[in-house]
Amino acid sequence: MNLNKNTWCGFGAIITGVVAMAASSLLIGDAPLARAESPSKTGNMTQPVEDNMHEFMEYVFQPTYKRLRTAMASEPTDNATWKAIKSDSLILAEGGNLLLIRKPEKNADAWAQLSVDVREFGSNLYQAARKKDYKSAQQNYKLMLTNCNSCHDKFADGKHQLKP
Ligand code: HEC
Repeated sequence: MNLNKNTWCGFGAIITGVVAMAASSLLIGDAPLARAESPSKTGNMTQPVEDNMHEFMEYVFQPTYKRLRTAMASEPTDNATWKAIKSDSLILAEGGNLLLIRKPEKNADAWAQLSVDVREFGSNLYQAARKKDYKSAQQNYKLMLTNCNSCHDKFADGKHQLKP
């Protein structure tokens, strides 16, 4: 067999090409796949965007509560106010679910129970607003706030006691 210098150069080029393709598929092609796989391994794709509780309450719960408080101050006389109540009660009720992915290591069960209670009363408030039932809305709004405050009692040194 006559393997001259040119033949070896040809092999060299092919091998270099294969190695480059493999490297680029590792760097570009396979990387997103590898990332997409990991959440399904843990069985849960839900994760906090903001894991600092102070910021979470300040930017998700506080503005919502303030708007709701204004809208709930007296019986709504127009559709726009009922719509505002529906929107903010739904945000807070769904927010209860978001609290469940933020359980502290200590007293996690109490945290979870209070989060579920906020979700339930928030949900009742949302349903009452859909029916424009102010009496039921008020009752559930107050019960929701009692549970907001209970959690602040237990997990925020009693600060942030919210009034209806
Ligand atoms: C499961 C526990 C829990 C529940 C339920 C909860 N909170 Fe909080 N909230 C906290 C904690 C903890 C803090 C204190 C965060 C910090 O400053 O470290 C807080 C702080 C706050 C603050 C103060 C934010 C600031 O910027 O100082 C407001 C306002 C607030 N929560 C509103 C609400 C409302 C409204 C609800 C009910 C709809 C609610 N929270 C339900 C745990 C909870």
